[in-house]
Order: sequence, then structure tokens, then C-alpha cells
Amino acid sequence: MATRDTDWDGVRLHVVTGKGGTGKTTVAGALSLALAADGRRVLLMEVEGRQGIAQLFDVPPLPYAERRIAVGPGTSSRPGGDVFALVADPESALIEYLQMFYGLRHAGSALARLGVMDFATTIAPGLRDVLLTGKAAEAVRRKDGARGRSYDAVVMDAPPTGRIGRFLNVSAEVSDLARVGPIRGHADTVQQVIRSPETVVHFVTVLEEMPVQETLDGIAELRALGGIRPGGIIVNMTRPMALPPGQLHEAANGKLDLAQLAIGLKAAGLDDSQGLADALATELAEQARTTLGQEEQQQRLESARQPCYRLPWISGGMDLAGLYRLAAALREQKAA
Ligand SMILES: Nc1ncnc2c1ncn2[C@@H]1O[C@H](COP(=O)(O)OP(=O)(O)OP(=O)(O)O)[C@@H](O)[C@H]1O
Ligand SMILES: [Mg+2]
Repeated sequence: MATRDTDWDGVRLHVVTGKGGTGKTTVAGALSLALAADGRRVLLMEVEGRQGIAQLFDVPPLPYAERRIAVGPGTSSRPGGDVFALVADPESALIEYLQMFYGLRHAGSALARLGVMDFATTIAPGLRDVLLTGKAAEAVRRKDGARGRSYDAVVMDAPPTGRIGRFLNVSAEVSDLARVGPIRGHADTVQQVIRSPETVVHFVTVLEEMPVQETLDGIAELRALGGIRPGGIIVNMTRPMALPPGQLHEAANGKLDLAQLAIGLKAAGLDDSQGLADALATELAEQARTTLGQEEQQQRLESARQPCYRLPWISGGMDLAGLYRLAAALREQKAA
């Protein structure tokens, strides 16, 4: 397949993190659509068991199975590829793993009776994470005879920034738990995938102090861990500003020419042009202060020296059309 000129050519596992509520699930969905353009096959994976993907794509709750949920943007000569979705939970991943490695058929119910599930989920949180990242690694590496790789790319809607380092740095956690044996081998394979140049971690944020701080901290944490590549910074929910840059400071300080505004409003035939001009000036001042604050946050983000992308605020609520708009914006900016 022809390679596209994007910032992440060669990347096959896109991990999407960010502060809660900034749009991780939405951006992961948009990114999977963008990556599925030109006939590529993409797997979008959810690991927190919240059915966010089903909600986003407006489909019934998803099982632990890969289901086709959408088609990427395409043209008449190059139709879009398929987006599959998977909701991965540690219990199902453990059963699948045991079946694969030990040939244990029907192991699920027996294991559940023996309390293995409690072991996996409560006693060993590190093992839980290995099972989830392991599923992503398996999908990335999977081959299917005729077509080579099963997926051209895997996108993971990952845990939030505060937990991402620990979530991905599974090897250290698990080596305490299992020094030898298949689980250890599994953890090592997963680490090879996570720490390969084929994996990057994207950060979704909005231009506010806290999420920007979490983004910078998250990138610093990955760099400190070593070997896990930070990816793009995706600034979500941006809105165009009503004022030209030159007037921002004036407006923010309440120094807009009110008389001029009133004359303009009067010329437009509006009654009480003075009262309207006052109200408008207050509104503009507030918007201008917000915009200036956002510019400050944008500059802080740029200090991280990672590629930055901007996604627009979709008014009227997120729907499939909005999601395709975000996908197009990602492609225009060469994020996919
Ligand atoms: N660009 C956008 N324009 C408008 N609304 C958006 C945009 N991106 C996300 N949203 C909305 O913001 C809300 C939060 O988005 P989303 O669920 O993707 O965030 P999240 O980071 O995954 O949240 P959580 O931490 O709860 O998993 C949703 O209602 C979503 O529709
Ligand atoms: Mg989410």
C-alpha cells in the first residue's frame, strides 16, 4: 500500500491519552477514521469498559470481539477502509491468553469458579494492564495469511494522563510478579511493541491550565521512562475568535472604541445602539481574555516540542458527521 506523507508514517500503534473529559474517546475515534482512509484497515480499541466507542459511533454495546463499525473517508477511485472496534477487558483477555498458550478450552467458567479473575483484577493490577496492552500488541503483530498484517493501524482509547505511564510501563511491574515463564515472556513481548518506533502516545488537551499541565507532565514522564515515544499534542475543542489579533489586548482591557461600535450598530439600524455596544464590549472583553489565556497555554504546549494539531469545537453536539470533520482536520494537518 502506498505510504502517505504524514507525521507518523510507520507508526502502527497509536495510544491516545489526555486529561479526563478533554476528548480522548472522540479523538481516538476521529483518528481511527482518518487512518482508515485509502483502504487501510484500522482497529479502535477501548480498555476502560465504558462503551464510549459504541456511544460515539451510535452502535449497540460492543462485545470482546472485533466488529466493523465504520468506513473511513474515501474517494470513488480509492474507497475508505474499514474501522473495527474492540472493547477489551482483562478477564476476557486472560481467558483468551490461557487458551492460546495452554490450549485450555472452555477454561473461562472453570477459572472464574477458581477465583482466578479476582487474582487478575484485584491482587495484581500490573497483570491487568499487561493483559490489556498485550491485546493491543497482539492485534498490532497479528498476521492473516493472504493480506499480511491484519491491521494497518491500531488506535487505543487509553487511560487518562495520570495513569498512562504506569499503564504502559508494564514490564517492570510484572517482572516482580513473574520472573520466568510465559507471563514474563508475554510481558516482555508487550514491552517490545510498546517501546518500538511503531508505537506513539498522543496527548489530547484543551487550552486550559490543568489539562495543559497534565500534558506536559505526561510527556515528561514518558521521556523519563525512556523508550516510550510521545506523539502529537491534539488541542481539542478550539473556537475561532471574533476579533483580529491586533485588537485582542485592547478588547481584553476594555479599551475598544465604544463610540465607534455604537455608530456601527446604529448604522445597522439597531435601536439602543449605545446599550448594545456596552453589552457587546463586555462580551468581547471576556472572549478576548479567554483567547489571550489560550494563547499562553498554546505557547506552554509548544515548549514540549512535539507536533501540535488543532481540532475545532463541533457545535450542536458530536455526531458521526462531526467525527468525520475531525478526521478530515487530522488528515489536513498530517496527523494521519
Ligand atoms: N471537538 C469537539 N467538539 C465538540 N464536542 C466535543 C469535541 N470533542 C469532544 N467533545 C464532547 O466532549 C465530551 C467529552 O468527550 P470524550 O468522551 O471524547 O472525552 P474523554 O476524554 O474520552 O472523557 P473520559 O475521560 O470521560 O473518558 C463528549 O460529550 C464529546 O461529545
Ligand atoms: Mg473516554
